[in-house]
Amino acid sequence: MSYKDSRLKLLSGSAHTELTSEIASYLDVPLTAASIGRFPDGEIDIKLHEDMRGSDVFVLQPTGPPVNENMIELLLIVDTLRRASAGRITAVMPYFGYARKDRKDEGRVPISAKVMANILVSSGVDRVLTIDLHAQQIQGFFDIPVDHLWARSVLGEAVQEMNLDNLVVCSPDVGGVKLARAWAKSLRCPLTIVDKRRVSGDTVVMENVIGAVEGCNVLLTDDMISTAGTITEAARILKEKGALRVIIAATHAVLCGPAVERLQNCAAEKVLVSNTIALRGALPDNLEVVSVAPLLARAITRIHREESVSALFEEVKTA
Ligand code: R5P
Repeated sequence: MSYKDSRLKLLSGSAHTELTSEIASYLDVPLTAASIGRFPDGEIDIKLHEDMRGSDVFVLQPTGPPVNENMIELLLIVDTLRRASAGRITAVMPYFGYARKDRKDEGRVPISAKVMANILVSSGVDRVLTIDLHAQQIQGFFDIPVDHLWARSVLGEAVQEMNLDNLVVCSPDVGGVKLARAWAKSLRCPLTIVDKRRVSGDTVVMENVIGAVEGCNVLLTDDMISTAGTITEAARILKEKGALRVIIAATHAVLCGPAVERLQNCAAEKVLVSNTIALRGALPDNLEVVSVAPLLARAITRIHREESVSALFEEVKTA
């Protein structure tokens, strides 16, 4: 793709400079020159080195770990842009942190996703571009336009290349059924569900699979892998119920705590994830990373040109 327009600017926070550089080369635009550093006490120090007046600025910053640090940095970048008279500011958040706290499902807890949306909007963000929100209704927490992309469109190509026959899609819990159903619909295969019970933040128990998996290859789908408790426990029970090959496809590789070790030793032969979050440090051998850069570059081009973004997804719409 060759794209040149002096008023489109692409700026990287420090959360995922590799992804921003990849997008910049797809768009054929230079990265906006900026210094993002730290004062001796840890406070964030930002300076832009280009005129931003009237520009259509896309700021890339997934709010994965360290979540609070990355979110504050994004807010300060947005404030800098607003005060530098940027024309329009789009927060490109391939991964939106705090999304799992999206409702008050017990007494005396915050709705953290709503708090994050509020502070982003009040800092001066005009639009949000994101991928696979934990729940699509989080879009409604923002009183600004949200363009929501599905990584399934890029992960799906990697799955198709494996030519898996007798395939069944499986959701590791009831919450993931909508996503798994969309996968099953696009791959034209049956849907199954694991009955999950969460006992603590990083421990889950699974005893039953709803639907037949014996003698089948299973594609286990999820929006995120955090401690990997959910997905590795689901892979284990699927094998126990007679599944042949188990392949995992998940959008956001948060990979915290025991995740790497759990994935390394799990029953799945391959773990397909996207690079919505920067993957650093030791990774499991069965991990394969698919880039969302071309997808984000196409969406940014369309937003900049005021063209439809949903047209990108006509063929992969969620069921
Ligand atoms: C649950 O609602 C999510 O979709 C993921 O299944 C979950 O957050 C993954 O967490 P962990 O990897 O820690 O089990």
